[in-house]
Amino acid sequence: MKIPEDVRKDIPLTSEVIYFDNTATSLTPKPVIEAMDEYYLKYRANVHRGVHRLSQMATAKYEESRRVVAKFLNARFEEIIFTKNTSESLNLVALGLEELFKPGDRIVTTPYEHHSDLLPWQRLAKKKGLKLEFIEGDDEGNLDLSDAERKIKGAKLVAVQHVSNALGVIHEVEELGKMAKEEGAIFVVDAAQSVGHMEVDVKKLHADFLGFSGHKGPMGPTGIGVLYVNAEFFDTFEPPLIGGGTIDDVELCCYTLTEPPERFEAGTPNIGGAIGLAAGIRYIERIGLGEIERQEHRLVKRITEGLDELEVPWYGPRDLKKHAGVVSFNVPPLHPHDVAAVLDEHGIMVRSGHHCALPVMKKLGINGTVRASFHVYNSLEEVERFLGVMEELVKGVRG
Ligand code: ALA
Repeated sequence: MKIPEDVRKDIPLTSEVIYFDNTATSLTPKPVIEAMDEYYLKYRANVHRGVHRLSQMATAKYEESRRVVAKFLNARFEEIIFTKNTSESLNLVALGLEELFKPGDRIVTTPYEHHSDLLPWQRLAKKKGLKLEFIEGDDEGNLDLSDAERKIKGAKLVAVQHVSNALGVIHEVEELGKMAKEEGAIFVVDAAQSVGHMEVDVKKLHADFLGFSGHKGPMGPTGIGVLYVNAEFFDTFEPPLIGGGTIDDVELCCYTLTEPPERFEAGTPNIGGAIGLAAGIRYIERIGLGEIERQEHRLVKRITEGLDELEVPWYGPRDLKKHAGVVSFNVPPLHPHDVAAVLDEHGIMVRSGHHCALPVMKKLGINGTVRASFHVYNSLEEVERFLGVMEELVKGVRG
């Protein structure tokens, strides 16, 4: 495929706006929409419950989608649980592991987490009398790996984001996972901003649990997410939700749970969403993760150079090898929302605010950032147009 031209042809919106809000959600390519249309138009039925042909077909496609996700992450079929999104996946982990914790146990995370990888641990710590500790890091988001080693020693659980949605920093998840496993700690990865943008291999990362959303990197629909559960935890990870579909047998007094993955998927799942997610992953595989990384790197390199030329402060690692396709910046004294509104007037969609990472904003002493975030369909021409608008804006502010 010719990058980004061929991908842009599959996404009509790319010819109408400059879409730089891919960290919030990605645009949807036609093959994903067609796969979901096919489900709704040709074999719309529930899964696992019917002997009729439509249900059989829906079940086959739904389970095939699980196989696609499993292969993509280098996981086993039964280790893939469909959820609503990353937030739900991470909440399920905290709820399902609750019984394993004793007062005084330690959970180690980082100061850069999205609220979804922080609040569930805060609540668990409060409920069970646990200690929550944070690996030291600098204002660019770089973690101090010696401090990580010290803190992970004897920890019960380590939870880390792969890529920061606020700073764009790519964390050393593989090394942290290795440290966690050497200490016998449970290793949880928030992969919301990495899946679909770079290789995510649950084995290489030493992940016991890993969550992501279908609508971001994988270019799938909203409302579908994934929780990877390492099979070693099938007996100790208590399904937080039970009921329809999760059982082998039920008496009035009691029940026996069925095998994973059904054990962890109560009720009718998002069937069309799972099918759309698999279509998104297939699409990503056709492009190639290497191509996606290269294109995003080109865009990050140019936008950061351009912002430097304009003396616009941007955040995240200066070492661009550690910088994913997410660039946060500010135009003081303007409020981030005002900058985003001006960019919108020029047809450029960016996100502004605290990005659900308030501790990061507090660490940097700012109330928010403007954030441009990329996917493979973004082009260098779009970055140049963005920089042109920014030049005018900066001139206006500085007089
Ligand atoms: N968590 C998403 C973001 O960072 C919504 O924009």
